Amino acid sequence: MTSAILLTGGTGTLGRLVAPRLLTAGAKLRVLSRQPREAGAAGAADDVEYVTGDLTTGEGAAAAVAGADVIVHCAGTSKGDDVKTRHLVDAATAAGNPHLVYISVVGADRTPVVSGLDRAMFGYVAAKHASERIIADSGLPWTTLRATQFHELTLTTARAMARMPVLPAPSGFHIQPVAAAEVAERLAYLALAEPAGLVEDMGGPHTYEMKDLLRSYLRAAGRRRPIVPVRLPGKAAAAFRGGANLAPDHAVGRDTWEDFLAERTAAG
Ligand SMILES: NC(=O)c1ccc[n+]([C@@H]2O[C@H](COP(=O)([O-])OP(=O)(O)OC[C@H]3O[C@@H](n4cnc5c(N)ncnc54)[C@H](OP(=O)(O)O)[C@@H]3O)[C@@H](O)[C@H]2O)c1
Repeated sequence: MTSAILLTGGTGTLGRLVAPRLLTAGAKLRVLSRQPREAGAAGAADDVEYVTGDLTTGEGAAAAVAGADVIVHCAGTSKGDDVKTRHLVDAATAAGNPHLVYISVVGADRTPVVSGLDRAMFGYVAAKHASERIIADSGLPWTTLRATQFHELTLTTARAMARMPVLPAPSGFHIQPVAAAEVAERLAYLALAEPAGLVEDMGGPHTYEMKDLLRSYLRAAGRRRPIVPVRLPGKAAAAFRGGANLAPDHAVGRDTWEDFLAERTAAG
């Protein structure tokens, strides 16, 4: 049977990789974006229906979810993902009983975000956990996958930090980066399968201390900068130092950070 799938965040790093996999599987695909897009226009696919809406306000959500059997929810930003998820879930429950597939982050459930300081630095993680709960309590059939940080975001962050004369590296933090394409593969598979609730975490093949990861970026980019360890305060930072954001038992990603970095820095 052909599934009608709504993909939120289908214009983002992950969503752009999920879309072709759903299309290849024969899905009828609709993508929600805040920007109006025409199918076939530059950067848009011919066989995708684009709908305009904003999950922060809920505008356009009802039209986006109408007729969807499955919703793959990849829309996200550094702030307010719980609000976006609430608007999406309200629209979805009013429309019917679609399977809601969500991408969250490893450690969402074991990073205590309690103080103002925690919220300032780790509010993103708290919003992902709140989103997970909104979905699990929605009454809709659901599947949630937690992934570690993507190679893509790791590179963007390293590039941004390397613009500073000195790179502050949170001491004791480790990262287990994973290729967004591999997460997309798994998410597309889950979207086409039966609702599974919270599935096994997905992490990259290796774990790196933050300072080593930054050093590897500087080496690959041919840049020299001092890296200074910074001890972040608060309970959430302590949880990260304890490895809350890692999935060592689910290091299932195959593409390594080194290969990704070599490919991207060669591409310029
Ligand atoms: N990046 C990581 O390392 C990582 C790791 C684990 C999980 N995740 C999760 O994976 C998801 C995708 O991440 P990504 O890196 O692909 O993000 P991204 O590249 O920044 O893309 C964000 C997407 O969200 C959409 N979006 C943002 N605000 C929206 C709003 N108010 N209403 C509707 N759509 C909105 C954007 O669409 P338009 O701009 O077209 O509106 C865009 O398609 C997020 O939920 C993130 O938390 C990310």
